[in-house]
Amino acid sequence: MAVSLKGRSLVSLKDFTREGILEILRTADTLKLERFRGHTHPLLAGKTLAMIFQKPSLRTRVSFEAGMTQLGGHAIYLSPTDISIGQREPTEDIAKVLSRYCDIIMARTFGHDIVVDLATHATVPVINGLSDEEHPCQVLADLQTIGEKKGPLDGLKLAYVGDGNNMTHSLMFGCASVGMNMTAVTPPDYEPVASICKQAATLGMENDCTIEATTDLDGVSDADVIYTDTWASMGQEAEAAERRELFKDYQVNAKLMALAKPSAIIMHCLPAHYGEEIDFETSRHRNCVIFDQAENRLHAQKALMVLLAG
Ligand code: CP
Ligand code: NVA
Repeated sequence: MAVSLKGRSLVSLKDFTREGILEILRTADTLKLERFRGHTHPLLAGKTLAMIFQKPSLRTRVSFEAGMTQLGGHAIYLSPTDISIGQREPTEDIAKVLSRYCDIIMARTFGHDIVVDLATHATVPVINGLSDEEHPCQVLADLQTIGEKKGPLDGLKLAYVGDGNNMTHSLMFGCASVGMNMTAVTPPDYEPVASICKQAATLGMENDCTIEATTDLDGVSDADVIYTDTWASMGQEAEAAERRELFKDYQVNAKLMALAKPSAIIMHCLPAHYGEEIDFETSRHRNCVIFDQAENRLHAQKALMVLLAG
C-alpha cells in the first residue's frame, strides 16, 4: 500500500521513511512524464503556497512557483524584506497567520531552527527550501536524476567532494534512506556535522549501505556519482577567499574524475563557481547532469506538494 504523507512537513530528509521518499520519486516520474506528454494535472487547484525567502534563489523560487502554476494553484513570493522573519514578529505568529491563508508554506532560511519553528506552529505542511543545515528538496531532485541515469539507487556509491555543508547533510540522509553508499570527502575542519554523520550512518545500516566522511581524496574511488557544491555557502561570503585557498585540492576536475568509475555522473546543485569547486570543462562533460538536476527540482517538488497537500 502506498504511504500517506498528507499533512506532513519536510524539514529534514530524515523525517521521511525510505517508502515515503520512494513514493515522492515515483510520483515525480509520473508528473514529469505527464508534462512531457502535454497532459495537464491541476491537482492543487485553488490551493496557495507561501514562499518565505531569507536568502537569494533562482531554482528554488522559480521551480516552486512554476510547479504550483502547473498544478493549478498559486504561489506567493515573500522576499527577505517583506516579512523580515525573526525580526518583525515571532516566527510562531507568522506560521499561525500564514496557516489561515495558505495550504503550504515553503521557507528558505539561515537558521535551521526557523524552519523547525514554522513547522511546529503551522497547521499546514512546511517545506524546507534550504536552511544552513539542510537542503532536502534538492536531494529529492538529485535522487530522481540518479535514478534516471543509473537505474535502481540501492547499492550505488555517491562521493561528495568539497565543503561539509547543508547539501552534504541532506545527501547523507537521502542516500542512507534509499540504500546508496556515500562518502563525504572534505578538507580537515570542514567535515559535515558529526551528530548528523552518526544519525545518517545508523540509518544507512538499517538500509544496508555505508555513510562515511573522510578528508582523503581516495574516498571518491569507484564512485558512480561525484557531487560537489560551492565552497562558501550563502552567509559565508566573508570566508570565500580563505576557503578558496584551503579547498583548492578538492576541485572536481579531470584528475579527480579519473579516481571514480569512468561511467560516473557529475552533479552540482548550482549555482556553480567555475574554476573553484568544479572547472568549466568538467561541468560541460557528457556525464555532467547539472541541468537535469535543476529541471527535476520542478518535478520532485510538484510531487512533494501533491503528496503533502493534495
Ligand atoms: N540549487 C538551488 O537551491 O538553487 P537556488 O539557490 O538558485 O534556489
Ligand atoms: N550550500 C549552498 C547551496 C546552494 C543551493 C548554500 O547554502 O549556499
